[in-house]
Amino acid sequence: MPLIHVEDRAAPLAAEEGETILAALKRHGLPAAYSCEAGNCGTCKVEYLGGEIFELDHSEYALSPALRAKNIVLACRTQVWGDVAIRQIDADELVEHPSRLLTTRVVALDAPAHDVRRLQLAIRAGGPFDFSAGQYARLEFARGIARDYSMANAPGDELLEFHVRLTGGEGSRFVAERLAVGDQVIVEGPKGASYWRERHRGPMLLVAGGTGLAPMLSIARAALAAGRTEPMRLYFGVRAERDVYMEDALAELAARHPNFAFEIVLSDPADAASRRTGLVTAAVAQDWPSFAGCKAYVAGPPPMVAAATALLTSRGLPLRDLHADAFITEAERAALAAA
Ligand code: FES
Repeated sequence: MPLIHVEDRAAPLAAEEGETILAALKRHGLPAAYSCEAGNCGTCKVEYLGGEIFELDHSEYALSPALRAKNIVLACRTQVWGDVAIRQIDADELVEHPSRLLTTRVVALDAPAHDVRRLQLAIRAGGPFDFSAGQYARLEFARGIARDYSMANAPGDELLEFHVRLTGGEGSRFVAERLAVGDQVIVEGPKGASYWRERHRGPMLLVAGGTGLAPMLSIARAALAAGRTEPMRLYFGVRAERDVYMEDALAELAARHPNFAFEIVLSDPADAASRRTGLVTAAVAQDWPSFAGCKAYVAGPPPMVAAATALLTSRGLPLRDLHADAFITEAERAALAAA
């Protein structure tokens, strides 16, 4: 009689030869997500870690070849013919949106801070653009000039919003000097795994450095628009007062949603600041004695992301509850490639 070893469970489950993984899980009374039981909905995905299985037909909608290549199988369509090991997975980890190539037009372009440009794009062709809050896309401004930027709008909003930091690189120079309202921008995406885990229930900590604000704003906007009432706190770290931007948008969210609060932290104020000062991670450390039950989302410069990761994990936040995106400039990317 074959055994099914389920990760994180001490005792394996006995299965009949040819029984599906889902049937065995149900027979043993284990919690298992499923719906159609016929290979059509994709609800019953599990990770296959090894062993003798036979997979029955299923629709590509239920399980894409890309996910199958990552050893994801459908429990309702996978028969057990020898000892097998699997891992039950959180459906939030498997969110997939079709990759799109959108033609968009710039409908607004402004400078919310001295070194930030905010772009708003209207989709003209190639939509709809489904994504999860916190993801990013590749923006092509002109032939050969393309860079990755995170969406700052919530999924489903009419306009796509991006925050471009002026780093002196070719992409941001193009935005600062040549891009204008009415121009075409090609958007390819979505990309990235540091997106809002919608099924999680519990406090949300959002930590942004510089234009890392964009994906954090997208997550906050999406979660609040979805009616979520868990405590949600966004920390926005910048160097000095002149780097603060979109404070109005944050204040408006805080005014409308009592569960949302934000902190702006200046790391290197030019003069006596009326705001909180120091490293943004130090502010988080001071305010949060524990991260129990929390999900943390972090985006910004690599040193800030590294410091936040070290802090959160040293205080017991499991890595699976930390979703971090380090923003690397083209110059840093080139230096890494050269190294
Ligand atoms: Fe629908 Fe398995 S339950 S695909």
